[in-house]
Amino acid sequence: MPLPPGPRMPRAAQTVAWIARPGPFMLRAHDRYGDAFTIRIGAEPPVVMLAHPEAVRQVFTGDPALLHAGKANGVLRPLLGRASVLLLDGPEHLRQRKLMLPPFHGSRMAGYRDMVAAIAREQIASWPRGEPLALAPRMQAITLDVVLRVIFGVRDSARLRSLRDRLRTMVDRITSGPSMLAMASAGPDLIERARIFRPTLKPVDELLHEQIRERRDDPGDDVLSLLLAARHDDGSPMTDQELRDELMTLLVAGHETTATALAWTAERLVRAPAGWAALQAGGEEYAEAAGKEALRLRPVLPIVLRHLQAPTTIAGLDLPAGTLVAPSIYLVHRRAELYPEPSRFRPERFLGDQPQGGTYTWIPFGGGVRRCLGAAFALMELRVVLAELAAQVDAAPARAEREATARRGITLVPARGAEVVLS
Ligand code: HEM
Repeated sequence: MPLPPGPRMPRAAQTVAWIARPGPFMLRAHDRYGDAFTIRIGAEPPVVMLAHPEAVRQVFTGDPALLHAGKANGVLRPLLGRASVLLLDGPEHLRQRKLMLPPFHGSRMAGYRDMVAAIAREQIASWPRGEPLALAPRMQAITLDVVLRVIFGVRDSARLRSLRDRLRTMVDRITSGPSMLAMASAGPDLIERARIFRPTLKPVDELLHEQIRERRDDPGDDVLSLLLAARHDDGSPMTDQELRDELMTLLVAGHETTATALAWTAERLVRAPAGWAALQAGGEEYAEAAGKEALRLRPVLPIVLRHLQAPTTIAGLDLPAGTLVAPSIYLVHRRAELYPEPSRFRPERFLGDQPQGGTYTWIPFGGGVRRCLGAAFALMELRVVLAELAAQVDAAPARAEREATARRGITLVPARGAEVVLS
């Protein structure tokens, strides 16, 4: 059976549209071709986009041996390392994921929240008032410190400063246009063999290994200490290499994504009638609802990908091995039958019983055995940081026009960095 139809423009034009304006590109194709359509981008195999929650359910609950996710993230291997949970598939992935789930279980969040609140409180207090301020970089500073202190367990302020500096340099260098291009075109094997990133990674790895040694000798209640205490089924602990790779993975997966979600929530809230006042009146409950609504309307990642290892039937479509299937977070979140007036920002949708909060209708964190490990952690950060912000300041948009969506790597960010004026 042929793949479902999709946009007929040349591959190069589809690639440009996907990179420059993924949202409108998907919406147009969805209007024209329906809930499953095929797009062709870059040198990738055909990508079958899925916009219906039932099709998405089939992908998320399908056999992980058939639906690989790790390979699609392969370009990150030189940075994250071979043991990264993001890059593994099948039994190896589950083996690693099993050890990482407990520190991120919902029941652990209460133990982390006070430190997150303290970090937010201190940083927000130092932000300038009365002048235009881009929130995105400020939110990144908060979420970076959260990763370093709550996840890595850094206590010493000199170590905190040097890790902060070295990590920022690393992230800036590696996510720069030329580096990303080099990674995508040369492929991870060549990059690893040529040790292109070695000068950038070495100073970071040194500090990570120091941190691992220190927490091993003197554990705390941070995520790293819990990972050090965890044991695989055969009784073995995680090796230093595994620990290093997973720390790097948690940083890369959890730092900018959460900062972007925070920035988008603020961008939408300051433009919603009485949005900020509602945040100030509604405490953490409203903050969480606003964060969820922002993740619905402005998902940080517009799709997730699975690579079919064998012919598979999804939503009645017989798809050949080698196809990429992409549950479209963006399109599912804009279905009018699930979210009336879908393009309006209305945090109230997520207050109370969350009538439309079905499992495969709100999917900013993906799903199934690959669902975001940090989902509860990210929601806790959204709650705590937004509530702290609302407690300290009033906020207004720096300019009336809404911010366009820009691309930063694979994430979708507010084009002006969520510019506001605080008072
Ligand atoms: C609002 C912030 C965040 C968003 C929108 C987000 C979104 C996602 C998405 C869409 C996936 C892929 C799921 C799939 O393929 O089905 C993912 C995976 C992952 N995320 Fe997040 N994430 C966020 C924050 C975090 C945080 C704070 C952490 C950890 C501290 C984290 C750690 C991970 C890890 C380790 C994976 C890989 C899971 C696996 O492959 O088994 N994320 N995230």
